[in-house]
Amino acid sequence: MAAALLFIAALMAASYTSSEAAQPKASFEDNFSIMWSEDHFKTSADGQIWYLSLDKDTGCGFQTKQRYRFGWFSMKLKLVGGDSAGVVTAYYMCTENGAGPTRDELDFEFLGNRTGEPYLIQTNIYKNGTGNREMRHMLWFDPTEEYHTYSILWNNHQIVVEACQWEDPFPECVSTTTKNWWDQYDAWHLSDEQKMDFAWVQRNLVIYDYCKDTERFPTVPVECSLSPWD
Ligand SMILES: *[C@@H]1O[C@H](CO)[C@@H](O)[C@H](O)[C@H]1NC(C)=O
Ligand SMILES: *[C@@H]1O[C@H](CO)[C@@H](O)[C@H](O)[C@H]1NC(C)=O
Ligand SMILES: *[C@@H]1O[C@H](CO)[C@@H](O)[C@H](O)[C@H]1NC(C)=O
Repeated sequence: MAAALLFIAALMAASYTSSEAAQPKASFEDNFSIMWSEDHFKTSADGQIWYLSLDKDTGCGFQTKQRYRFGWFSMKLKLVGGDSAGVVTAYYMCTENGAGPTRDELDFEFLGNRTGEPYLIQTNIYKNGTGNREMRHMLWFDPTEEYHTYSILWNNHQIVVEACQWEDPFPECVSTTTKNWWDQYDAWHLSDEQKMDFAWVQRNLVIYDYCKDTERFPTVPVECSLSPWD
């Protein structure tokens, strides 16, 4: 099995949009530094965008320069098409202690398949070095066809992973109206629209949920009793 790591970061930043007028435009390098595979990064002429690539040898990683307790992180991704059986493309974010035994980590993993068969998406969460929180979903779009946005919101109240369409300059599933919105009241629980989306995904697309795997976890993990409806 091939594992392709697309991305890593220290406790990640939020949407990284300095919208205040009359300021010189920030460049990506102000807030992030490359960790590995420098030759797999390309920077746009205005310095605002990094293009990352993945090939059969390696992916790449970058790190925030500052540390963040909460935030929202989003990336546009397009997956390898054709026969991708056995390929796992990972887009993940973890704390600066990296591969250490006490790391926290949020994962998107795309599980490849034979030509013409769909990718599955698996999410996982590591807390203090322990993962085992897999959820597996079918997708409702073809991730190899064009770029889609995959986002992670995390704060003291919830962790939300989301895939949505990108409408420049932001993905449409995001509110950018308030300062630090990712840790304001509205981001502490799902919105009504997100609850409907969540219910639809649960009904139609979830094919594995560790919370329901009583064979693997005879005692239901404690976070499984938290309700997304609150
Ligand atoms: C990005 O870096 C600049 C310069 O170091 C800093 O002033 C700014 O607060 C950073 N932005 C974020 C979102 O952390
Ligand atoms: C590959 O696609 C088939 C047919 O849709 C599906 O049953 C199978 O679970 C998929 N395997 C993976 C690893 O995604
Ligand atoms: C994290 O795990 C380590 C062992 O790997 C343990 O010593 C430590 O107490 C744990 N920390 C918390 C906050 O649970």
